Amino acid sequence: MLPFHKAVEGDFSAVNQLIIDQLHSNVDLVENIGHYLVEAGGKRLRPLLVLLTANALGYTEKEGNTRHLDLAAIIEFIHTATLLHDDVVDISDMRRGRLTANAKWGNAPSVLVGDFLYSRAFQMMVAIGNMDIMQILSDTTNTISEGEVQQLVNAKDPSVSEENYLEVIYKKTGALFEAACEVGAVLSEASDEQRTALKLYGYHLGLAFQLVDDALDYEGDAEALGKNVGDDLAEGKPTLPLIFAMREGSPQQAEIIATAIREGGIDQLEQIVEIVNTTGALKYTADSARQQADLAIAQLSHLPESRFKQAMSQLADFSVGRDH
Ligand code: IPE
Ligand code: IPE
Ligand code: MG
Ligand code: MG
Ligand code: MG
Repeated sequence: MLPFHKAVEGDFSAVNQLIIDQLHSNVDLVENIGHYLVEAGGKRLRPLLVLLTANALGYTEKEGNTRHLDLAAIIEFIHTATLLHDDVVDISDMRRGRLTANAKWGNAPSVLVGDFLYSRAFQMMVAIGNMDIMQILSDTTNTISEGEVQQLVNAKDPSVSEENYLEVIYKKTGALFEAACEVGAVLSEASDEQRTALKLYGYHLGLAFQLVDDALDYEGDAEALGKNVGDDLAEGKPTLPLIFAMREGSPQQAEIIATAIREGGIDQLEQIVEIVNTTGALKYTADSARQQADLAIAQLSHLPESRFKQAMSQLADFSVGRDH
């Protein structure tokens, strides 16, 4: 548990229990894979955002209000489903400090259990019965898939622009952070002003989070991260560290990177790491993340003072300073 989980400790354990309860299936393989991934933990930042938002807006002050717990579990199921699919398409073999499900069971079970988790999330959503929330979450799930496809199209293409890259990271990652905060606001019947502020907080936080993830793929430590570094280069992904280094590096450096993107593979990883460091590309990526986190924090001025709001500010700082 990270320090900012403390503000909603009770809710957080209730959500963890709900996640376990809702994984039930009569098919053993579904439960085995689900439990394997869920029990490995993960930071649970997205469900935490639902809990913090609902608490910050006073939803939990009314006795019997527990829908925020369901929503938090729903958001984590959607996230976990995207991870199952993502590790198949990225051919990754380590996640949350363990073998990925695809490395352990194969691609077919991973894809199918990912579908199970998506659909379980939708069953739980229907039980909440709020059309606004259903709209946000179905749009978001669609946006995430579109982002992953757009990224697939961009793979091995060194000409992808920074703008295109930003669009991809918004869709694949930012959208779910944004939705986690917005559904918390809708559930709490927040004013339009607060709903927009929370949506923007999640939007900027999500961008910061993925920018850091993309830097960590070059400078991170696999053990701390619980996943391998170099996975982006292996697939020839034109992420911001590479886009910046091609733009600002010497023509020779730019060509080395362009070739590595075109061909994929991690044979050149050491040389590429050297280039993204010396051209300042990792610093630029980290600075962009810091800017996004500051924009997120600025939106919190629309919320009343509370320990929940403070935790949301700490969460934004953590997202840029993190090593995992
Ligand atoms: C991983 O997300 C996928 C990205 C969007 C980078 P997290 O880093 O939040 O993964 P867990 O849930 O903590 O394992
Ligand atoms: C994650 O992007 C996006 C989604 C899971 C939708 P990455 O592919 O960079 O995430 P990691 O690095 O595998 O966690
Ligand atoms: Mg991946
Ligand atoms: Mg990916
Ligand atoms: Mg990554």
